[in-house]
Amino acid sequence: MKLEVNGAQLDVDPAPGQVLRTVLRDHGHTEVKKGCDAGDCGACTVLLDGRPTHSCLVPAFRAEGRSVTTASGLGTVESLHPVQEAFVDAAAFQCGFCTAGYVTTVAGLGLSGEVTQDVARALKGNLCRCTGYRSICDAVRGTSNTVDALAGQDAGRSVRAPAARRIVTGTEPYTLDVPDVDLAHLAVLGSPHAHARIVSIDARKASQAPGVLAVLTYEDSPAHHFSTARHESRLDDPDDTLVLDRVLRFRGQRVAVVVADSLREAERARALIEVEYEVLPAVVDPDAARRPGAPLVHGDKGPEARISEPGRNVVAQLHAEMGSVAAGLDAAAHRVHGTWSTSRVAHASLETHATRGWLDEDGRLVLRTSTQVPYLTRKEIAHLFDLDHSQVRVLTGRVGGGFGGKQELLTEDLVALAVLRTGRPVQYEMTRADEFTVVPSRHPFRVTVDLGSDADGVLTALKIDVLANTGAYGNHGPGVMFHGVNESVSVYRCANKRVDAESVYTHTMPSGAFRGYGLGQVQLAIESAMDELARLVGIDAFELRRRNVVVPGDRLLVTDPDEVGDLDMHSYGLDQCVDLAQAALADRSLDAPTPAGALVGEGMAIAMIATIAPRGHYAEASVRLLDDGRYEARVGTTEFGNGTTTVHAQLVAQALGTTVDRVVVRQSDTDVTGYDTGAFASAGTVVAGLALHRAALQLRGKILAAAAALRDHPSDEPRTWDGSVLGVDVADGVRLVDIAAAAPGLTGQGTHDGSPRSVAFNVHAFRVAVRPDTGEVTILRSVQAVDAGTVLHPEQLRGQVEGGVGQAIGTALFEELRLDDEGRVTTASFRAYHVPQMIDLPHTEVLFAQTTDSLGPLGAKSMSEAPYNPVAPALANAIRDALGVRPYELPMTPDRLWRLTQPS
Ligand code: FES
Repeated sequence: MKLEVNGAQLDVDPAPGQVLRTVLRDHGHTEVKKGCDAGDCGACTVLLDGRPTHSCLVPAFRAEGRSVTTASGLGTVESLHPVQEAFVDAAAFQCGFCTAGYVTTVAGLGLSGEVTQDVARALKGNLCRCTGYRSICDAVRGTSNTVDALAGQDAGRSVRAPAARRIVTGTEPYTLDVPDVDLAHLAVLGSPHAHARIVSIDARKASQAPGVLAVLTYEDSPAHHFSTARHESRLDDPDDTLVLDRVLRFRGQRVAVVVADSLREAERARALIEVEYEVLPAVVDPDAARRPGAPLVHGDKGPEARISEPGRNVVAQLHAEMGSVAAGLDAAAHRVHGTWSTSRVAHASLETHATRGWLDEDGRLVLRTSTQVPYLTRKEIAHLFDLDHSQVRVLTGRVGGGFGGKQELLTEDLVALAVLRTGRPVQYEMTRADEFTVVPSRHPFRVTVDLGSDADGVLTALKIDVLANTGAYGNHGPGVMFHGVNESVSVYRCANKRVDAESVYTHTMPSGAFRGYGLGQVQLAIESAMDELARLVGIDAFELRRRNVVVPGDRLLVTDPDEVGDLDMHSYGLDQCVDLAQAALADRSLDAPTPAGALVGEGMAIAMIATIAPRGHYAEASVRLLDDGRYEARVGTTEFGNGTTTVHAQLVAQALGTTVDRVVVRQSDTDVTGYDTGAFASAGTVVAGLALHRAALQLRGKILAAAAALRDHPSDEPRTWDGSVLGVDVADGVRLVDIAAAAPGLTGQGTHDGSPRSVAFNVHAFRVAVRPDTGEVTILRSVQAVDAGTVLHPEQLRGQVEGGVGQAIGTALFEELRLDDEGRVTTASFRAYHVPQMIDLPHTEVLFAQTTDSLGPLGAKSMSEAPYNPVAPALANAIRDALGVRPYELPMTPDRLWRLTQPS
């Protein structure tokens, strides 16, 4: 059949049942993205005869004879459509995976001007998980938030992202947006049981099905146990996982894998696999899992697995006290006690996890994958398959959102196994349902808090008891638990502190790394308890924090008074953040209208976070002078919407006295770039950025030396000395192209080992209106003040904060991966799981403290995860203020809030 795509005739022969999205991608239109294949997210939007249409819902045959326009057809990198120009100017993207769909929808609907509720409703078919939507609204209204890269070299300016024009045209290549050659596909058979042992697998019929290359089972698995979580030290996580295991510990766990010529053939053959299971007793509740006699999730593991107490289902635990909490509570004039619980939350990155693998001409294994940690992935794949590191190459394109979820090794191991077994290039792309059922979620926590204070509200005791549900595997279980109880407790000065914390296995989908890394859960409890304490003392919540938070000169202590760690305050802006948030909340002129019959309340919460993860985070970077006088920066970390590419280019430009457009950043390819622990723990700016800045400074010295040598050369022509140290294309009076010719490959190197570490701060404040008759919450005013040190790119920083706040409002008010009593996920689609839409989120005012960190590059600190952490408690405190009763459970859905208002 024939159709017209972007003005060109296309002859296609779709398979029965094939949709327009996959037909377009099969013919090279990779600007049409896959986000859900269910019509919920809009990443695949095209104009069909001029109307915005989710191409994943359109049977391909319906497009016969019709006209299709994609983002690449609207405009090109050289000549953008006005809507694309607006998205570039507004910096209306982070990962950018949603952007091609957005520009197509906005252009197709002809939207422009003020973003009313009607406009937001018109865009309800497009989801963005990164931005919090403000910058997208700015694009619709035509607000410019950025300056051209040519406009200046200074770090501190909101220069346009180098990839901006490719992102808005859909031409920036994400993981699977590269041509495929002879590609085979994977289909995974998942466990139908929460706990079972495989008695037998009969794969004969599946193996003989058309197109099938291999059926892989536990008998094909590498023997090494590992963890899907990746850290600088692989010993940080328990070795409790096999690539394919005979024991199944959660519904959906891999049972067998079909590799076939096409995905359709792999899926058909998957249905032919016959498995006999011995169903075993399961435990899905973390409290029950700790009781004597509970079914054991990893009772078969020995000490080599590094599980704290496998006989009690405890993967990690901490029980420690400083001073005497009992004495502190006895001496208290006021006490608060309560227990809070948080829900299981999905990352919901628009790009699903995916890997494409092949053997290169030298027989080396190459994995192009959607990871935040290419070097750590290479290390573990080499370990699993007994390969030398040099035999494995891992690289990424731009990654379509991560939030910690792509810090795990979830697809690469199966692709490696399939490639090594078949010799064919193989692709594994997760479905949206996979993302909700087998990709690790945020850890659900239950936290009990006891606070005591004197009559003035000065803390005399702080005690927490934490229970975290790590699910079937302990990936990030220890790290999330330890981090969750660290900065949340150490931000307060108190002589008597106690922490009891356990992370517990259950037969449910695994939990994992997620923005904030446990702090958001614990801070919901501590910051809610502090709010109650302020009420008892009779002072406002801001003042209570002023009386109790750490100040410069204090040590950051959890429960060990003699602790000598590498975490310290190398800058301090918490006081400014408290003042800024309080002053902004007092301004009612920007409030949204209060719904009739609603009760109004205010609330706030604070948060502190380390700027780098503990126990090692390393980066090696280089900057080279190119023949044409530009610079090439090589850095191992990944761009997944955190904006590091732009900031890295700014840091290099700043050091070399040039403009950002003259810096080419090459990143995240283990064959090309220097080692990097990865893009997690918000380390992209402070670790990789510092390494790159050092490399650029070293290159600057080499260029000056080379320029001096050229000037001094007796045969050299006299040159103009322009008086500057370095210029855009002149160094010390000598043209950069001449220096590059005289000293080819001139390169600076820089490293950073991520220790010592500093802290960053966030304070959030809300004014809300809650209808007691329905439990509906309207956010009237939302303010976040942040201490990120020197602000290198104000627009990107504001975007990170707004995105984190938006994600946290989702956690606080709607989002919940619900599991039934047998561990089955019942919310496995965007439609069933409520990711905030544009219409759901308020405007958040973002304010910056004025500080300069002595560790970070040019004084900057990290600020990707931190904005998430104080939001849920601030919102809970505001709702408490409005209703007069306190919510103890997330999400604070209307039905839960309504029930709180009913007489018990
Ligand atoms: Fe919208 Fe990432 S920028 S999903």
